[in-house]
Amino acid sequence: MSHTRPLLLGFPESYPQAQAVAEKAALDFAQVMLHRFPDSETRVQLPEKLPEHVLLYRSLDHPNDKLVELILAAQGARSAGVKKLTLIAPYLCYMRQDKAFHPGEVVSQRVIGELLSHYVDGLLTVDSHLHRIHHLGEAVPVEQAINVTATEPMAQFLSQQVENPFLLGPDGESEQWVANIATHHALDHALDYVVATKQRLGDRRVDIKLPEANFTGRNVVLVDDVASTGKTLLAAAKLLRPYQPASTFVLVTHALFVDDAMQGLRDAGVENIWSCDAISHSTNAVSLATLLADELKAHFLP
Ligand code: R5P
Repeated sequence: MSHTRPLLLGFPESYPQAQAVAEKAALDFAQVMLHRFPDSETRVQLPEKLPEHVLLYRSLDHPNDKLVELILAAQGARSAGVKKLTLIAPYLCYMRQDKAFHPGEVVSQRVIGELLSHYVDGLLTVDSHLHRIHHLGEAVPVEQAINVTATEPMAQFLSQQVENPFLLGPDGESEQWVANIATHHALDHALDYVVATKQRLGDRRVDIKLPEANFTGRNVVLVDDVASTGKTLLAAAKLLRPYQPASTFVLVTHALFVDDAMQGLRDAGVENIWSCDAISHSTNAVSLATLLADELKAHFLP
């Protein structure tokens, strides 16, 4: 098959999400085939014929494996004559280490950003963890680097799922997302929201202080960009319990939830855990297909 329209290529862990974006953006879609050899190397297979513009859809959770496969696919596409490569990585890895906090630490954000820039011309990602930089292009120096927020689909989802929700952001960084959702124009009226403060004591240890607020009898939704160990959300959920909220929910953009993170949250009284489908996960409840397709049409497609 020969493609003249831009072609979106999906990787196995998220074929449905990739295909949904392709359909909404009126792109052709095909699968990247991966074969894992017994020694953990991967054989990557692309469609035989590729058009000038290829879009690779891959979230970069579990990055140490996925990055190598992505690079193999990107370089394979270039070798097959592809002129323009766009990466759609709803979750972008290695963004947290944006400076050397201790002598000798490698600034992985810069290294991985530059690595990606050697292989792709453009990048579209969602709610990327950018602390000390203001624009994604500073971390990933490609022609077009766009970091879009998932707060619109999240606001729409909440308006259908939870009656009069009270949003709680577990730390200062979450305020941007929580405030955006609470005041989103897709809602009939602005939602109540507050933001807690957090001190990180280690990979799996955080100290959270809730702000003054009356959570009693409310439908509280804990909102964050990413849940990794889930300890941030867990600490907040535990502090909420004495207030006896009517219900407690979790809504995040990126669902990593390593180890027993989800069980811990359920044990702490969280009724439902929801996530956007940026990372393919059992908690996926909010599709980002329309958001991503609209961004592609606005910025990356002719
Ligand atoms: C940090 O600032 C982020 O917004 C999240 O709160 C954090 O990454 C969550 O990590 P964990 O689930 O391991 O507590």
